[in-house]
Amino acid sequence: MTNSRKCGIIGCGSVGAAAAYTLATHGLFSELVLIDMNQKRAHGEAMDISHGVSFSQPCRVMDGDYDDLKDAAMVIIAAGVGQRPGESRLDLLTRNAAVMRSIITEITRVCPDAILLIVSNPVDLLTGIALRISGFPSERVIGTGTVLDTARLKFLLGQKLGVDGRNVHAFVIGEHGDSELAVWSSANISGIDLDDYCIGRGLSDDFSGLFESVRHAAYEIIEGKGATYYGIAMSVLRIATCIMRGEHSVLPISCYAEGHYGLGKVCIGLPCVVGRGGVETVLDIPLSPDEMQQLHRSAETLQNALDQLQL
Ligand code: LAC
Repeated sequence: MTNSRKCGIIGCGSVGAAAAYTLATHGLFSELVLIDMNQKRAHGEAMDISHGVSFSQPCRVMDGDYDDLKDAAMVIIAAGVGQRPGESRLDLLTRNAAVMRSIITEITRVCPDAILLIVSNPVDLLTGIALRISGFPSERVIGTGTVLDTARLKFLLGQKLGVDGRNVHAFVIGEHGDSELAVWSSANISGIDLDDYCIGRGLSDDFSGLFESVRHAAYEIIEGKGATYYGIAMSVLRIATCIMRGEHSVLPISCYAEGHYGLGKVCIGLPCVVGRGGVETVLDIPLSPDEMQQLHRSAETLQNALDQLQL
């Protein structure tokens, strides 16, 4: 049995700390356990957030060690190094795979029934590694995937079209990284095909530059402030809420893809129905032949990076 009010956060760098802060201010959990190799860092973050809790909702934010994760319903993993300017997410694989292995070994020991939410990059490959090492059922090992990329796409499209981004229905799928793709073939504004929407309003329907901004967003943010953390922290809140409240919402998380879109044993960003048990259904949304090819190329990019790691 797990305690649905308790969540662990591993890694208290800028992403883990922002996720802890965001979760603490939204009252989704009543207990947050912060763990970091640098215990003083975890302690400092827990103290800092705790001092603001009286302005928010009751939540015990504490630093701890792995044994404190006992009965946690969810463990969020944001440990490892982040991208430096010019580095791709895949460049982080060797360093962060080792970190992930040691963390998962501890988690399987103390909270074998938890849902894992992997945030560290390269998120798809680390989700796959977490899945393999934990031996957990694939529905309980989830990566943040392309949830943030999809939010970026909706935000930019919404701005361009003068409509609330939440009414833009479109997905970014594939690797959370350079090989990701936007599913333009089914993109729509509250049911109106995106191209028709643009044509009807005399707007350009060339979105290549806009998508480039989505794909390049993290690089631009890192160039500006050294790291990205608020957007991903809010994505973590969205996914955690969907799971803990059993929403059955569709989110493009990183999931185990075998049996869908003709993909093999890979974790990659795909739209899934997400609920209390984690991934409930991987949705096979319609893709154009070109999109299907891009998705397969994205999966190959991930597989090639993984093969190099194993050499
Ligand atoms: C980003 C990080 C989370 O895209 O990869 O902001």
